[in-house]
Amino acid sequence: MRKLTAVILAAGRGVRMKSATPKVLHELCGKAVLSYSLDLCFSLKVEQIIVVVGWGKDKVVSFLGKNYADKKIEVVVQKNPLGTADAVLSAKNKIARGAGDLLVLYADQPLLELATLKNLLREHSLGDCAATFLSAELDNPCGYGRVIRDLDGGISIIREDKNLNPDEVGIKEVNAGSCIFKKNELFSVINKIKPDNIKHEYYLTEVVRLFAQRQKKISSVGAQNQYEILGINSRAELVNLARILYRKTADKFLSAGVTIESPETVFINSGVRIGSDTVIKPFVYIDSGVVIGKNCVIGPFSHIRGMSVVKDNALVGSFTELNRSWIGPGSRIKHFSYLGDAFLGANVNIGAGTVTANFDGKNKHKTLISDGAFIGSDTVLVAPVRIGRRAVTGAGCVVTRNKDVPDNAVVAGVPACLLKNR
Ligand code: UD1
Ligand code: CA
Repeated sequence: MRKLTAVILAAGRGVRMKSATPKVLHELCGKAVLSYSLDLCFSLKVEQIIVVVGWGKDKVVSFLGKNYADKKIEVVVQKNPLGTADAVLSAKNKIARGAGDLLVLYADQPLLELATLKNLLREHSLGDCAATFLSAELDNPCGYGRVIRDLDGGISIIREDKNLNPDEVGIKEVNAGSCIFKKNELFSVINKIKPDNIKHEYYLTEVVRLFAQRQKKISSVGAQNQYEILGINSRAELVNLARILYRKTADKFLSAGVTIESPETVFINSGVRIGSDTVIKPFVYIDSGVVIGKNCVIGPFSHIRGMSVVKDNALVGSFTELNRSWIGPGSRIKHFSYLGDAFLGANVNIGAGTVTANFDGKNKHKTLISDGAFIGSDTVLVAPVRIGRRAVTGAGCVVTRNKDVPDNAVVAGVPACLLKNR
């Protein structure tokens, strides 16, 4: 394959979001909108990634620094949002010289799938095209640029919705956004684009007209699913995309052997792993990065946060919140509990209403609960503290900080005192 540079267009403000945060930094299923395009580029192993930023650029730059310090991502600033062609031009000086292809991704279309992009790349290189873009047939094409073909079926123009002639309004074939160009061909015409349209923008889609006039080969590839081309312009669209993505994630787990009893009420964020034969009951929210083993039962009404790990055969029941916690195999937390920074061994039983007091107002501290321990209902464990193997805490007791409970000890009271050994 030829050398591939990706330019991700993320300079738009997203006025309709009515937000102080740039549109591409809003979260979609636990992951920033921009990260979806970046992850596609990483999966495609593109040689060079350039993100075009504009409005809110400092926030985007600091987001990239914080989350992708180990990756080589270049950033260029588009001074004014003069249109998608201007955005690509603003990256021109950074784009590696010589032959190769330029993939342009619109950062506000996060549901685009790797398989579709691979099709786009394949079509582009097999057909030796000057430009290949993603298209779709939409029942309601309103708002999208339309693909206008000549009598032989060749693509001659992409006309933006606002500039359509009356006889073109009914065209259902739309430009889906992402496109790939032969770099040299693109930069031989991009300067010729004029902002002679209602919005006075420099449209990247004008490249199609310029290529068609020069008899360059232009091709298109259909997106595999209609949802892939949906964009985010408002918060309503953001939550609509989240709904689609949550459902897609649930379907993926269902086909991998995980029971999700009520997918409409379960929210599994990006990058979660769940083993087979685990049952997710209704009204469960699982944050990004959580790992759940095989044969577990989660919920109903549980919130699993902060990279928590739940090992095989464990049970996390109703109104339980886990945060940065590790639940050993076979452990059971059946009813309303909060476990933060807690590390449970195997076969621990956590009684109803147990709380780890992990925050002292300044710092977070850890709680260790060893194999086979039995924590009585309504126990408060003030961290840092360790509960020994097979130790027991009585109902309503408060184990104070650093007052570790030895193996096999039975403690009770406030503060907890040794009653006997098991
Ligand atoms: C674009 C396409 C349209 C297509 C649609 C699919 C053009 C001219 N039109 O329209 O044919 O049907 O996507 O969703 O390309 N951006 C910049 N700088 C700018 C302008 C835009 O970085 O000056 C970024 C935006 O942040 C956004 C992306 O480019 O991520 C697309 O821009 P947008 O204005 O949303 O284009 P559409 O009107 O959706
Ligand atoms: Ca858009």
